[in-house]
Amino acid sequence: MATRGRNLNDLVTRFWSVAAPLYDHPRLQQWVYQPAQDEVIDELRAHGARRIADIACGTGILAARIEAELQPDEVYGVDMSEGMLKQAKARDPKVQWRKGPAEQLPFDDEALDAVVSTSAFHFFDQPAAMREFHRVLRPGGLAAVATISPPQLPLVGQLTNSPASAAHNPSAREMRTLFTDAGFTISEQHRVHRPLWTKAVFDLITIGTKPAS
Ligand SMILES: C[S@@+](CC[C@H](N)C(=O)[O-])C[C@H]1O[C@@H](n2cnc3c(N)ncnc32)[C@H](O)[C@@H]1O
Repeated sequence: MATRGRNLNDLVTRFWSVAAPLYDHPRLQQWVYQPAQDEVIDELRAHGARRIADIACGTGILAARIEAELQPDEVYGVDMSEGMLKQAKARDPKVQWRKGPAEQLPFDDEALDAVVSTSAFHFFDQPAAMREFHRVLRPGGLAAVATISPPQLPLVGQLTNSPASAAHNPSAREMRTLFTDAGFTISEQHRVHRPLWTKAVFDLITIGTKPAS
């Protein structure tokens, strides 16, 4: 990874280690994070994936839900923040928790049936992460990424993608390009379905499959 990427990852890791104790607040989870996670679970169920990794799993809520609701053969939660992983490990001993960056995943080539990521992709080196998702998936494997993606209006775009921000919020078109450039075939893309009072959260889900060779 380039130096700039490592520095950004250090900054993000430090922030999330400090924020970890606040993260599980029930209202924050229900209103901000859960809608995208619900959609990811539905996609995984429809795909029938048995070896699944949640990338940038945070405190492990989604990975633990995947374990409980789908009971696959293997579930991994990967994050690079010690603070978040500490809470994840306490949540569910059946999930296999791994420390590592999305841009360098701790899996062999074609080791997984599905890779998912919610509310974190805006922090990644996005082309590098997409290449890793493709590498670790078997042919026919599924990638589902839900990320903040505000409408491309001048002011909103400037506020959410300012040079001072540690994150980049990709547009819907950028997400499609990232998926296809990495070798995926896109099967679905839409705004995450949310209750009316949380519509201010502009998250977008993109689903792709690695073509069978
Ligand atoms: C807002 S939390 C989201 C957690 C979880 N995915 C969810 O939906 O609740 C963002 C998480 O992304 C992790 N993260 C950010 N950049 C990362 C990277 N490049 N590789 C791995 N984890 C990363 C942070 O450590 C943090 O735990």
